[in-house]
Amino acid sequence: MLKPCLFLLQFLSTVSSSSTTIPLGSTLRASDRNQSWSSPNSTFSLSLLPITPSSFVAAITYIAADVLVWSASNNDTGDALVVDSGGTFSLLPNGALRLINGSGSIVWDSDTANRGVSHASIDDSGNFQLPDNDGFPIWSSFDNPTDTLVPSQNFTVGKILRSGSYSLSLDRSGDLNLKWNDTVEYWSLGFNSSINGNLSSPRFMLRSNGILVGLDPSFSSGMVNMAFSTDYGEGNDVFRFLRMDGDGNLRIYSTSGNSGAGNVTPTWAAVTDQCRVFGFCGDMGICRYKDSNPVCGCPSLNFELVDVNDDRKGCKRKMKIEDCPGDVTMLELEHTEFLTYPPEVSDQLFTLAFVACRLTCLQSGSCIASTLVADGRGFCYMKTPGFVSGYQGEVLPSTSFVKVCGQAVPNPPLYQDTSGKDKDIRLQALVVGGVVLATLLALVAVVISFWWWFYREKSGHTSAKYELVDYASGAPVKFSYKELQQSTKGFSEKLGEGGFGAVYKGTLPNRMVIAVKQLEGIEQGEKQFRMEVATISSTHHLNLVRLVGFCSEGRHRLLVYEFLRNGSLDKFLFTPNESLNWQNRFNIALGTARGITYLHEECRDCIIHCDIKPGNILLDEVHTAKVSDFGLAKLMNPKDQRYLSLASIRGTRGYLAPEWLANLPITSKCDVYSYGMVLLEIVSGRRNFEVSPETDGKKFSLWAYLEFEKGNVEAIVDKRLAEVNSEQVLRAILVSFWCIQEQPSQRPMMGKVVQMLEGIVDIERPPAPKLVAEGSSHGTTMTLNSNVSALSTYATSNAPSSSPSFMNIEVPPPRSSRDMTKESSSLLGLK
Ligand SMILES: *[C@@H]1O[C@H](CO)[C@@H](O)[C@H](O)[C@H]1NC(C)=O
Ligand SMILES: *[C@@H]1O[C@H](CO)[C@@H](O)[C@H](O)[C@H]1NC(C)=O
Ligand SMILES: *[C@@H]1O[C@H](CO)[C@@H](O)[C@H](O)[C@H]1NC(C)=O
Ligand SMILES: *[C@@H]1O[C@H](CO)[C@@H](O)[C@H](O)[C@H]1NC(C)=O
Ligand SMILES: *[C@@H]1O[C@H](CO)[C@@H](O)[C@H](O)[C@H]1NC(C)=O
Ligand SMILES: *[C@@H]1O[C@H](CO)[C@@H](O)[C@H](O)[C@H]1NC(C)=O
Ligand SMILES: *[C@@H]1O[C@H](CO)[C@@H](O)[C@H](O)[C@H]1NC(C)=O
Ligand SMILES: *[C@@H]1O[C@H](CO)[C@@H](O)[C@H](O)[C@H]1NC(C)=O
Repeated sequence: MLKPCLFLLQFLSTVSSSSTTIPLGSTLRASDRNQSWSSPNSTFSLSLLPITPSSFVAAITYIAADVLVWSASNNDTGDALVVDSGGTFSLLPNGALRLINGSGSIVWDSDTANRGVSHASIDDSGNFQLPDNDGFPIWSSFDNPTDTLVPSQNFTVGKILRSGSYSLSLDRSGDLNLKWNDTVEYWSLGFNSSINGNLSSPRFMLRSNGILVGLDPSFSSGMVNMAFSTDYGEGNDVFRFLRMDGDGNLRIYSTSGNSGAGNVTPTWAAVTDQCRVFGFCGDMGICRYKDSNPVCGCPSLNFELVDVNDDRKGCKRKMKIEDCPGDVTMLELEHTEFLTYPPEVSDQLFTLAFVACRLTCLQSGSCIASTLVADGRGFCYMKTPGFVSGYQGEVLPSTSFVKVCGQAVPNPPLYQDTSGKDKDIRLQALVVGGVVLATLLALVAVVISFWWWFYREKSGHTSAKYELVDYASGAPVKFSYKELQQSTKGFSEKLGEGGFGAVYKGTLPNRMVIAVKQLEGIEQGEKQFRMEVATISSTHHLNLVRLVGFCSEGRHRLLVYEFLRNGSLDKFLFTPNESLNWQNRFNIALGTARGITYLHEECRDCIIHCDIKPGNILLDEVHTAKVSDFGLAKLMNPKDQRYLSLASIRGTRGYLAPEWLANLPITSKCDVYSYGMVLLEIVSGRRNFEVSPETDGKKFSLWAYLEFEKGNVEAIVDKRLAEVNSEQVLRAILVSFWCIQEQPSQRPMMGKVVQMLEGIVDIERPPAPKLVAEGSSHGTTMTLNSNVSALSTYATSNAPSSSPSFMNIEVPPPRSSRDMTKESSSLLGLK
């Protein structure tokens, strides 16, 4: 055993320094645990890895964190192939790479026998290759991935990452797709939605900085699509990898190299709503969330689990439909949908009303279940035998029907938190309350409909309505779709495109200029929509955009806002020749903070905005900041928020708090985080998530903190600003670093932010927003003296008279966590 090892070491020193050479005829034995083929700096190694004491897989692992990145696997299932303790993994003299069981049977083969393989090699990026004499790889682990991609590994057309029934592949137009059973595509990430032809050689790659990027020679680097891990651009020693997981989700994981095994955390997931992964709960299984975890169950007691030990295997009917002639009924499931990808398959789709959606399926021989999507379009999907994947959730608007034999026996409630007795009493109370409420509602409805009828009769001359608009009566005006069509000249002048839909300019008959937002993907009924409109219009604040009215007609949902001539803040911050002076910027920062404070703390129903970004901060003629788009991501209700995350996540990367992506409860501190990012952008005129050579390949927000720690505040400030009030600049920068703390509890409340900006309270020195210090040496070792003097030179050079003296202030040492409100010593001593 010793001899080949020595031989190997000799090779190592003579051949190329970036890869270890393994000569033909080498063998790894499962019986000898110490054998492995390691890369030169021992980052990766190939070995026979024990998964139980007596079974082994041939695998390449990232040693520092014990991450398996490749294994000899079954082509069809992606499962690693297992051998017993007599197993071997050999590079035969003829060039074949083979996994052989103790019994001598060939379990896996690279299919490279007699094709000119000269040796094998493994390099520090984790690639195991079988090159020929010219160094051309006949076979490589990078070209034959299993379920994992490591940084720099190309993922090209024809390659597949597989895990059970799930697979990841890339098509010629550059779309990265997740599929179930190679047929149902439930997720895709396109290069650019406007490409619908074939690209020359599209490929995706996970960069070591955590950005998953799509590339093609026919595009300049700007024309690619990307996905970002939450920690992208951070930490030089973080190892990241992309894995097709067995639950059907595709994730980026980050591991901190030196901190040892076990420290592997997901930092991006393709499907943010796990229950939307097709087949997650098996055939006829229903996915629900319990707390924030997806759990699987059956539609009703007419079903039972296929495998009681594994609820992801799906459900089956206790009585088959075939054995049940004449006694088939439809089980009704509220708030449930049977997933359909693509969403509009024409032959399954009908426009049917509630009863018809149920009856048509019942009467059809081939239909086994149907879903009515109650989003105003009235679509009804019919499911034929095959695979049916369900999703049930309080806020889903769909109702589904399933054929069952005999009487439908609904499930007991999922969340039983009280004993039976309590429940009975509560049930009685509920019934009584319900009856009373229903009666009241009916009465109110009668009164309202009379009133409506009366009002409509009168409003033949509509101008009375518009007068209301002018006088900010508070009540939003209901517009008809036709009226809005006319006032926007058929939706011809587009002002922009937000997370919730496009915005058009329009003019009312009374000459008031309006901005009309055409909402998309609002999956809720008329009643719920009106409730939200009422909430939004109950907000009145100088720094909030005023809602003038709305339209809710059929599937149309529109909101009508006052029009703001100066557009949104991002135009001023990120367009080279548009700029605001410092005083404007500071006022905008303060105004925005006040607007958000009002939403969080001062209005009747608290509203978490969930989408604070420069694009949602509008400016009027005198550059007063007005926050827009609030209330669209629902009222403060953590349960509901998660379902809305998809819509608002789009396009707002960089502003989302880390806990959002980690699926933790959403609180108003999420807005504080986003605000902090916006504040930094207001000061710097640069995107917080920008990564460039100028920022040492780090995210701007992170780089800015490091510069701040070095005392180089000037580097953070927008170069276009000729004159600044350095005291305000510093305050803004300090506040922004407090706001973007990773721990929500460390971020100040919005009201406190206002006070900090106004200089009413002291601002303490902020700790590092993220664990930036981990990867970089200057982060923690910088000296305080240089910091103070740099801050003071900056301050004095710009504002000679009014700034407080920095020299006499004691600077507390940097620390990781403290309750900032309790601190008496402060960096600035601003009062
Ligand atoms: C493997 O290495 C360990 C220590 O690293 C040593 O104790 C053990 O004897 C070795 N086993 C074999 C079979 O060489
Ligand atoms: C696995 O797939 C590759 C390419 O699709 C093929 O060449 C190879 O023969 C397959 N191996 C097995 C064991 O099926
Ligand atoms: C390997 O051999 C063991 C018995 O030694 C057997 O149980 C197992 O099924 C074999 N595995 C394969 C993949 O042939
Ligand atoms: C090993 O080499 C790779 C590639 O040269 C490098 O990225 C990595 O940091 C090195 N790892 C160690 C532990 O030296
Ligand atoms: C990935 O593909 C690009 C372009 O085809 C190529 O230049 C690069 O060497 C490839 N990387 C690896 C690790 O194969
Ligand atoms: C997967 O697809 C194959 C062919 O496309 C089909 O025969 C098979 O029944 C499908 N599997 C399931 C579980 O539906
Ligand atoms: C793209 O390529 C596929 C085969 O690779 C071909 O069938 C298809 O027609 C091509 N599409 C276009 C738009 O060129
Ligand atoms: C998508 O491609 C079109 C032209 O093919 C280009 O004009 C547009 O800027 C691209 N979009 C993105 C986001 O790269």
